[in-house]
Amino acid sequence: MRIIALMNQKGGVGKTTTTVNLGAALAERGKKVCLIDLDPQAHLTINYGIEPSREICSLYNVLVEGRSFLEAVHKVNQNVALVPSSIDLAAAEIELVGELGREMILKKRLEQAQHDFDYILLDCPPSLGLLTINALSLASEVIIPMQAHFLALQGVAKLLETIQLVSRRMNPRLVVAGIVLTMFDAQTKLSNEVVAELNSFIESAQGKSLPWSGARVFSSRIRRNIKLAESPSFGQTILDYEPASNGAADHRALAMEVIEMSAGVAPAGGAGDDSEAAA
Ligand SMILES: Nc1ncnc2c1ncn2[C@@H]1O[C@H](COP(=O)(O)OP(=O)(O)O)[C@@H](O)[C@H]1O
Ligand SMILES: [Mg+2]
Repeated sequence: MRIIALMNQKGGVGKTTTTVNLGAALAERGKKVCLIDLDPQAHLTINYGIEPSREICSLYNVLVEGRSFLEAVHKVNQNVALVPSSIDLAAAEIELVGELGREMILKKRLEQAQHDFDYILLDCPPSLGLLTINALSLASEVIIPMQAHFLALQGVAKLLETIQLVSRRMNPRLVVAGIVLTMFDAQTKLSNEVVAELNSFIESAQGKSLPWSGARVFSSRIRRNIKLAESPSFGQTILDYEPASNGAADHRALAMEVIEMSAGVAPAGGAGDDSEAAA
């Protein structure tokens, strides 16, 4: 099982869009996928047609009230399950302040549950707070969705610092799988400059013992595509809403790249995550 956190403390960079549609594309390939919505804005939840409400068991109930992980897992279709967020989750960081081991609650709850997923995708909120730390403590990999903006690397430094801290203190197996460029426009000179800058940054880490030493800039880029912005309001993924769009093609390509890299970042052969043989 691979547990991937989609993380960037900046809002509006495409975390949720990537989580929704990468999840759908992995499921289309026959993978069993569980999506966890860690953002109190609940966009992932809504995008999958689930109304965030107090009536249903959500991540809040799991983190704050000790409900079991499986109680909060809602089946969306044959291959996709979802743990919804709710607006209450915004208060969780404060409500958990006095709780011992609060950085690892999600990990603990998941360990206690019998589950059967190939991929768990964690849609992080736009902050480096407790919810994101819970995602990083649980994850085996991080994917950083990012726009090819001027000074793009500046924001990444703080993010990587947080990942390194969590990997040292709580989760030594955590690695950065890569950076995925979102809302990409290959025509602009700036986009290509940013790609070159990211590549040389990653190269400079190779051979060092840093969580991003084996990272890559995914060659699948998510192009700007209006269909990706439209599909959430229909409660649909891009694969349902407009399967022939660029947005669908790009997420399918990303899913293939993620599947194919599995030998590099996680124990190969699907023998479970206890085997450290590949490390
Ligand atoms: N490739 C894309 N093309 C066009 N619009 C996009 C694309 N990716 C994301 N968007 C839109 O940009 C906004 C922010 O994306 P979102 O995935 O919600 O970011 P985040 O989760 O990082 O805050 C949303 O309105 C989304 O529909
Ligand atoms: Mg989001």
